[in-house]
Amino acid sequence: MALIETRNCTVRYSSGTPFEKEALSDVSVCIEEGEFVGVIGHTGSGKSSFVQLLNGLLKPDSGTVLLDGRDIWEQPKDIRRVRFEVGMVFQYPEYQLFEETVYKDIAFGPQNMGLSDEEIRERVHTAAKWVGLKPELLAKSPFELSGGEKRRAAIAGVMAMRPRVLILDEPTAGLDPRGRDMILNRIRAYQQEFHTTVLLVSHSMEDIARVADRVLVLNRGSAAMLEPTETLFSHVTQLESMGLSVPAVTRILLKLRERGVAVPDHVYTVEDAARVLLPLLKGGDIHVG
Ligand SMILES: Nc1ncnc2c1ncn2[C@@H]1O[C@H](COP(=O)(O)OP(=O)(O)O)[C@@H](O)[C@H]1O
Ligand SMILES: [Mg+2]
Repeated sequence: MALIETRNCTVRYSSGTPFEKEALSDVSVCIEEGEFVGVIGHTGSGKSSFVQLLNGLLKPDSGTVLLDGRDIWEQPKDIRRVRFEVGMVFQYPEYQLFEETVYKDIAFGPQNMGLSDEEIRERVHTAAKWVGLKPELLAKSPFELSGGEKRRAAIAGVMAMRPRVLILDEPTAGLDPRGRDMILNRIRAYQQEFHTTVLLVSHSMEDIARVADRVLVLNRGSAAMLEPTETLFSHVTQLESMGLSVPAVTRILLKLRERGVAVPDHVYTVEDAARVLLPLLKGGDIHVG
């Protein structure tokens, strides 16, 4: 059984007004326990609406959202429990830090869950470690942190709730490449340690390709593809027709393959490309000049 499933879900904003907008149309997707799923699509394709369906922040206008095979809206008063199990890090979460200290901000979620002070302490420290925040930062005001540190504190706040499903909506938006790599690596390491099911929303193919096992492509409110990352780039033409660009290094390696050079078709980072290409250059399989 899938851990999370959407069955024929449709979401409309401003229903019944001249501004009515169908953000998701008949979306049916199954996500298994322990998977790392990347959610990608052009701006306005419905990524945020889709993930908000999964923790009950949005209610589908039609269709069903299932967690462990149970309709999450069966007992509307249980939706709070769903939000503990399906944790959400919103886009630009640093704007939601509001406590006097970083510690209190990270502790906010676990506190709502009614855990003991001792348990909360342990969770705050562990979560801070996972996102790479030094313990001495916990006593500071969140306003004293750098942009990247604030972002990491916000992610730690959701990790500290130990949700079964961790959803991150554009967690690298606005960060420089170092901040981006740091956050992606931490999230990936966390997922591997706890076997948490992770959904990571991004409009960057590079980000998604580095961390996700499978990729959900949304296009104009529809689920256009749900594909293992390794085979995603065999659909270059289709992806480009949806306004999604394939990473530049992947494109170069695909071109080499077309010309008969034996390189793998799932290389997404410059580091991996170097690892694949250097021996070929040295061995004379590829001629430069
Ligand atoms: N609160 C809202 N009110 C009206 N329209 C909205 C609202 N939120 C999103 N939309 C519209 O729904 C569509 C999908 O939006 P969204 O889920 O935010 O996409 P994405 O996260 O991929 O950019 C877009 O056309 C967007 O303009
Ligand atoms: Mg969005």
